[in-house]
Amino acid sequence: MASTIHPALDPAFFGEGPARDERFTVKEVWVDMVNLPEDDPQWKMEFFHRQMNEECNVLENAASNITDFPDADWNIRYWLARQAADEARHVDTYRELLEARGGAVGQYPVMNFQYRILRKIDTLIGRLAVQNRTFEADGLDAVTHAIEEARRDGDDKLAEMYETQQADEVLHIRFANDWIKEQLGKDPRNVLHMSRALTQGARAFEQVFAKGGTNVMKYGVATEARLEAGFDPGEVEVAVQQSDARRARVRERLGID
Ligand SMILES: [Fe+2]
Ligand SMILES: [Fe+2]
Repeated sequence: MASTIHPALDPAFFGEGPARDERFTVKEVWVDMVNLPEDDPQWKMEFFHRQMNEECNVLENAASNITDFPDADWNIRYWLARQAADEARHVDTYRELLEARGGAVGQYPVMNFQYRILRKIDTLIGRLAVQNRTFEADGLDAVTHAIEEARRDGDDKLAEMYETQQADEVLHIRFANDWIKEQLGKDPRNVLHMSRALTQGARAFEQVFAKGGTNVMKYGVATEARLEAGFDPGEVEVAVQQSDARRARVRERLGID
């Protein structure tokens, strides 16, 4: 079903939403979601539901990259197909978790910003920079933190699931990093395509999360996992500095030492 554009979003940055059946209520901005405090007993359920749909967005993006760029080299198309298969498994896993713990598909609203943002990026290098190298790298930090939390809570089954997902996400970021580096060496114009896409993606992301939602207080950059995912030490260092600065700004805003 096509999504209408929310007044807070610039239509230049957001394409049509993906198809969702009648079970789903689709929202366009973070503030319209069900955002529960972490100590709410329903928090985890809502997280599994939201994540199930996010994984579906990543699956849809990986698959679209194959159909939208039929002339891309075989190697990258192979990796995108493999990624699509992994993401389909992630969707299933979150659905199983949700249902095993008493939840149901459609119980909470969902957002499809990852898909909609990618629709407006017209180069494969730009899409991989935004989806794999940014959204999934942020997801890698989140899942690395979630592993520690699940272990701490004695939820070993959940921790194992997150570890499997972490291993997959490292591969998805790494193949994109490898391919992007190769493309940058081949044609200097690719630097421009990539930076334009990153700027567009960042502005679009800010519009979706305008009133909060970036969980910057909780955890920093998963340095080891990012190195494993093919980021250079210098790039990881920049990510750490940016993350620390973001969290410092939030602490300042909230008046926390
Ligand atoms: Fe995934
Ligand atoms: Fe992934």
